Amino acid sequence: MYNTWEELEKAINNCQKCKLCNGRTNIVFGVGNKSADIMFIGEGPGADEDRLGEPFVGKAGQLMNKAFFGLGIKRENVYIANIVKCRPPQNRVPEKDEAFACMDYLRNQVILVKPKIIVLLGSTALKNILSEDRSITRERGNWIKSGDILYMPTWHPAALLRDETKKIQFWKDLKLVKDKAQKESLKT
Ligand code: URA
Ligand code: SF4
Repeated sequence: MYNTWEELEKAINNCQKCKLCNGRTNIVFGVGNKSADIMFIGEGPGADEDRLGEPFVGKAGQLMNKAFFGLGIKRENVYIANIVKCRPPQNRVPEKDEAFACMDYLRNQVILVKPKIIVLLGSTALKNILSEDRSITRERGNWIKSGDILYMPTWHPAALLRDETKKIQFWKDLKLVKDKAQKESLKT
C-alpha cells in the first residue's frame, strides 16, 4: 500500500502483473478529483480509453457524461476508475486472475480518495468489489452499506446503449446518488 499518489502512480507505471499488459497502449489509471466524495468504478478500458489513457471517454463515457450533466454532477468533482487498468482483448470481461492482480491498485486508490459513496457500474464492479454472489439485476438502485462506504450498484453505461429501459433506471440510480450527496453536503 502506498501513502501518496506519486508513489502509487510510479508503482503502476509499466505494470506487468497480469497478461492484459500485452495488449495495452496505455495504462488507464483513473481521472478526477483525488479527494472526491463520490467515486465511480467501471470494468476496464475500451479502445478509446486505451488510446487516450483516460477512463470513460468513448461512447459509454459520453452517455455517462450526459447523465452527469443532466443531474448536475461535474466529472472533475468525482473520481473515476476501473477494475482493470489495461484493456481486455475485444473488450471481454476481465478474468478472475486479471481482476485479482489489479485490485491492489484500486484498493489503494479508494484509500487515498476516501470517498463517502462508490457507484458500482455494472456486474464486474459489483462482484469484484463486494462479492461474487451479488447480482446487478437484483441489486441495482439499492444502497449497500459496507464499512464506512455507501455503495450504489447500477448498470454499466455500455448496457444503456443496448436497452432504453436501462437508461431510465441508470438515471434514477444516479439521481439517488445526487440527492444523497446534496443531503449530506458532499461534492458533486
Ligand atoms: N467501460 C468501462 O468499464 N470503463 C471504461 O473506462 C470505459 C468503458
Ligand atoms: Fe497491471 Fe492491472 Fe494492467 Fe494487469 S491490468 S498489467 S495488473 S495494471
